[in-house]
Amino acid sequence: MTPTPRNKTVTVSAAANVALIKYWGKADAPGNQPATGSLSIGLDDLRTTTKLAYSSQREDVIHSDLNDQSKQRITRFFDHVRSEYELDRYFLVETENNFPTGAGLASSASGFAALAIAVNDLCHLQLANHDLSRLARTGSGSAARSIYDGYVEVIPTDDAYAEQVMSANAWPLSVIVAVTDAEQKSIGSTEAMKRTAATSGYYKAWVDTHLKDMADAKDALQHRDFEKLADASERSCLKMHATMLTSQPPILYWRAETIEIMHRVQALRSDGVGAFFTIDAGPQVKIVCTDDAKDAVTDALDVSGIQTLIQTRVGGAPRITRQ
Ligand code: PMV
Repeated sequence: MTPTPRNKTVTVSAAANVALIKYWGKADAPGNQPATGSLSIGLDDLRTTTKLAYSSQREDVIHSDLNDQSKQRITRFFDHVRSEYELDRYFLVETENNFPTGAGLASSASGFAALAIAVNDLCHLQLANHDLSRLARTGSGSAARSIYDGYVEVIPTDDAYAEQVMSANAWPLSVIVAVTDAEQKSIGSTEAMKRTAATSGYYKAWVDTHLKDMADAKDALQHRDFEKLADASERSCLKMHATMLTSQPPILYWRAETIEIMHRVQALRSDGVGAFFTIDAGPQVKIVCTDDAKDAVTDALDVSGIQTLIQTRVGGAPRITRQ
């Protein structure tokens, strides 16, 4: 029998995503099981490109400008892959982001989604989407969503996975990312989540009220109701940050520019411009807007201290090339 041809190198480009209804807090189980569901949009132009091949050595070799801690996370991900799929192989990986890493711009989401898709392809694991999403989740909770494009939901079962709610084309919104500080953040999301769950009196309320936010956001998607999506998204974002602000010691990711942008976006919205903000575990602000609001948003973002504005749109389908 002719052996099945094996690809030697797989290159995957996966996009970052931003949650409109946030994942914040893990369930009491291994593998980044989320305490709540979440709903995100893929960011079409913020991407990780990862090249994966088998290593000729008995160890994983990682070429990247990631710090040592991030490289160890990749090795732990490969350890999980070896034990879960009984593989006796090590990997050679080259990975890079086209946007600031570890600064609250979801580089771990695009990074682990790219790795999961690449491993699945290189090792012919033939995982269906739900399992591929679960595999990405073991690297980083938010990565479960980056294996799809468009509007994506995490279903928080005992073995949580994501699925697409709606394609990007079904509601082609724009996103503007305002980078206020591209440095690595001082506290990573895993540690911040732990501290919040352990010390914030608001954490339980966050978990308890989250279902309503999810329901509102999904209803808003179904009816293309921008105002309703804006309300649910800003509420979820501000509640998540409220749990951090009330942790011991408190976690405050915002810079002065972050708050100035929030004010400006709120002012736009009260003038009838279709725009709202969301902020992850970092000082950057993502502004989601209708296409016709792009210029008004960009004009309003003339804030001194903003380092970069990245214009993108909802999208983010992964791309694979094989050599
Ligand atoms: O996947 P992690 O561990 O980087 O956590 C992501 C947490 C937030 O970005 C703040 C929220 C989210 O749902 O993406």
